[in-house]
Amino acid sequence: MLVAMSRMLLILILTSIATQSSGLSVLFIEALLSSSHHIWISSLVKELLRRGHHVHFTSIHTLKVEESLAANYTHKSFDDLMQQLQNSNDYEPAEWANYNTLYTMYFTHQFSNFVCEKVTALKAMKETLELVRTKKFDVIVQDVTLVQCLYGLWEVAKGNPSVIGYVPFGNSPWIKDYIGGSSYPAIRPYVHLYMAKPVSLWDRTLNFIYFTLDDLLRHYYMMPINQKIANEFFGKELRPLAELEKNISVLFVNTHYSFEPSIPLPSNAIEIAGIHAQAAEPVRDERIRKFLDGAKHGVIVISLGTNVAWKAVGLDKIQVIVSVLAKLKQRVLWKLDKEVDMELPDNILALKWIPQNDVLTHKNVKAVWTHVGLLSTHEAIWHGIPVIGMPFFMDQRSNIKMLVEKGVAVHLDFKQISVATVEHALLEIIYDPKYMRNMKKLSREFRDRPMPPLDLAAWYVEFVSRHPGRDFGSPGRFLTRTEENLYDVYALLFAILLIPILICSLLLKSKYIRSKLPFESFTFTFFVKNEKKKRS
Ligand SMILES: *[C@@H]1O[C@H](CO)[C@@H](O)[C@H](O)[C@H]1NC(C)=O
Ligand SMILES: *[C@@H]1O[C@H](CO)[C@@H](O)[C@H](O)[C@H]1NC(C)=O
Repeated sequence: MLVAMSRMLLILILTSIATQSSGLSVLFIEALLSSSHHIWISSLVKELLRRGHHVHFTSIHTLKVEESLAANYTHKSFDDLMQQLQNSNDYEPAEWANYNTLYTMYFTHQFSNFVCEKVTALKAMKETLELVRTKKFDVIVQDVTLVQCLYGLWEVAKGNPSVIGYVPFGNSPWIKDYIGGSSYPAIRPYVHLYMAKPVSLWDRTLNFIYFTLDDLLRHYYMMPINQKIANEFFGKELRPLAELEKNISVLFVNTHYSFEPSIPLPSNAIEIAGIHAQAAEPVRDERIRKFLDGAKHGVIVISLGTNVAWKAVGLDKIQVIVSVLAKLKQRVLWKLDKEVDMELPDNILALKWIPQNDVLTHKNVKAVWTHVGLLSTHEAIWHGIPVIGMPFFMDQRSNIKMLVEKGVAVHLDFKQISVATVEHALLEIIYDPKYMRNMKKLSREFRDRPMPPLDLAAWYVEFVSRHPGRDFGSPGRFLTRTEENLYDVYALLFAILLIPILICSLLLKSKYIRSKLPFESFTFTFFVKNEKKKRS
């Protein structure tokens, strides 16, 4: 009995050692100048700290963590650069709404070059490089959406740590380059298109053209420039970046099959959409909480996220919106970054910043009016709140189309804002129960997983650390497009089929052979006889 029990205990201890690699040293790199990417991955940084791991976070903003987690947390940030960028005159996200799909494609890859130039010049980045060279990390977790120049960190890192890449820009067509497979233009809309899914022949043709151009632009325009910047920054000729990205052990993707059209993913591509939404907490700010609690008829939340500012929408349109909101029974919590020179009605609480994800957990929230960035979209889905979607640029365009198709959102074009359009969107979303019903259903599908996404992500960080140097990827990622699509095999088979046919037809043309063949001479004489008969 005692022996059995101690054996049990031993097994328990052994399994807990095997499944819990505690005290890992993890390096996070978030160099893409986009606040939403920083917010998204911050939830994983905190989760790993909670699990007792050591984390260094080089990021565009300083992430403050609670005191209880701070002991094993270090960081370097680019706060000044973000401030500069947001204050500069060129930074006009609303302008981006005027970019067509082709220009948005160019702009996205160009942004990778721009960010590489900026961040490699920073002291914080140089210090991070020094850190990677001298301190051994178990795992590097890095944003690989853009900023490919920083792949070089993996080449110079002390002790060859495993690399986890992550892509908060979930529908990036180029994730195929990291994991293998196709970008699936027959299944998914090209990310910057106003399209829910490619259905008609024309849609698929257009979609295919955009995917192909994106691929060409990535490999023949952006990558060479990134490579040049990287070689300079790391002070040596790195292997081609397109080769380095094959070293990613596990890829975290910000999608989920319940929402985005699902594509086949190899087993090292992990969909963890919702990690930041899962991290929601009850609203702490007393003023906001009281406002939400006291809303007898519910609350509409208005927030355009971190990139788009209301100043871009214009004061006249804000006035129109206020006049419509004033007529509602519902309360309105508005993240309004612009000073408006007018008295706001009692049912509106306008604040410079709101804890959007936490607010959406409140039971009185009836709808959220957003720019349908991917984070806001996933938050709305996670918390089951129907959406008024006012897209501006990039993936917001395909996001709104997918939301509308699922019957969980109303599309409001910000260029068409008027009393009529705003009233229509609000009344529709508040009083037609189908939006709430569909959204609750989608929310259940989105959240129902074997393991919540944040736990899954943390598990994978521990997992790769337990198998250093092991390649979990699909061999497909090393294949060329020709090999992967078996074009060469089709060509070979075609040749094999064609050659005998060619030989036969050549032989049959030869008079000598024809005279030797009994069936040929038979057909021939038969034919000649018939001809003679016809003529006579
Ligand atoms: C910090 O790391 C040490 C050593 O790995 C560990 O014992 C300790 O519990 C960690 N502290 C926190 C707050 O997680
Ligand atoms: C990266 O890939 C190369 C070539 O496939 C391989 O030799 C190297 O060991 C890999 N490095 C890591 C850290 O996995």
